[in-house]
Amino acid sequence: MQTQTLLVDAQAPQAAVLTAAAAVIQRGGLVAFPTETVYGLGADALNPVAVAGIFTAKGRPASDPLIVHLADLDQLELVVAELPPSLTQLHDLVPGPLTLVLPRHARVPRSVSAGRETVAVRVPAHAVAVGLIRAAATPIAAPSANRFGHTSPTTAAHVLADLDGRIDLVLDGGPTAVGIESTVLDLTRPTPRILRPGGVSLAQLQARLGAVEVAPHARARAGSPDARVAHTDLPNIGAAAPGMLERHYAPEHELRLVCGAPDAARAWIAAQVAALNEQGTTVGVLLCTEDIAQLQPILSAYATLIEALGSETDLAQIAHNLYAALRRLDARAPQVILARDFGAEGLGLALRDRLIRAAGGNVAWLDNPPV
Ligand code: TXA
Ligand code: MG
Repeated sequence: MQTQTLLVDAQAPQAAVLTAAAAVIQRGGLVAFPTETVYGLGADALNPVAVAGIFTAKGRPASDPLIVHLADLDQLELVVAELPPSLTQLHDLVPGPLTLVLPRHARVPRSVSAGRETVAVRVPAHAVAVGLIRAAATPIAAPSANRFGHTSPTTAAHVLADLDGRIDLVLDGGPTAVGIESTVLDLTRPTPRILRPGGVSLAQLQARLGAVEVAPHARARAGSPDARVAHTDLPNIGAAAPGMLERHYAPEHELRLVCGAPDAARAWIAAQVAALNEQGTTVGVLLCTEDIAQLQPILSAYATLIEALGSETDLAQIAHNLYAALRRLDARAPQVILARDFGAEGLGLALRDRLIRAAGGNVAWLDNPPV
């Protein structure tokens, strides 16, 4: 299969481009498109054959459910069996980086939800994504547009690096804004529960819904007292947390993550840089500009490969840069990549979640920061 790329204006998508892409969706094909979080790999959510194509192209296990993307909340009734009253409290977060798990309408093929009675839905805040859904006149099922196990794509080039020759079309609308995936919130439980931290924070959800739980696998990473051991148990929670174990943030080279207060984390990194270099290991660091400034003497003494994520005072900037910087650093082929977390407040929780998974559990916990 030849993969076509079409440039599209991210703010004001050209009607001709949307019409061409919609035709591919309508005939059961696969179209990668930008959203405000990461690029998605879309197919007609109501066509089981098209949906099967997503799993094949990504090499994704059929047990991992997909998010159904809608143009607006009015389309919910197409795919959701019953709307919970709490939904009205979330209206100002929609469209946006928030995915809601709700009861699945029988119209939605079971394969979309990997056999579950629920369906995950999201209204993206991106003119290309919304324009494509409207032009195709159908909800669009879309996981992140990467091969299973790889880092999520934030540019069309990232999509092609993983999926060239495996999908019909990529709409290139430039880099995505948020840079990490949506928050997945389960609204089918008595108390709403975060299944995946993301672009909408726990505090934002608590402000609107009152009590919000964080699923055990995510809570362990939020700095609870059992955090030191809980992350090593990850392989055992697959059944309880479908798809949450997808190591789709993993670089090719070894990533070591340190979680803790900035000064202690920097000291840990400095010690690692020195020790690894003395063993003859080439080291790369994925750090904020403040870290890089403070560690400059040791980083230059050992000719360390450096990727800057932006200032630690701007976690949105760090999220925006994370995946592209990780891909760039990985391509420079250091034997070991060192990174640190950015706390558990706001986007920090989602950043930590992605970094822990990219590290494959290779995490040094220096302390247990507050949730
Ligand atoms: O920002 C995003 O969410 C991006 C863009 C393209 O919208 N999409 C994305 O999709 O990250 P994906 O497939 O890479 O991740 C979807 C997550 C998975 O962790 C999956 O297990 C969870 O959502 N999920 C989907 N349907 C679910 C359901 N019915 N119940 C529980 N979790 C579900
Ligand atoms: Mg993914």
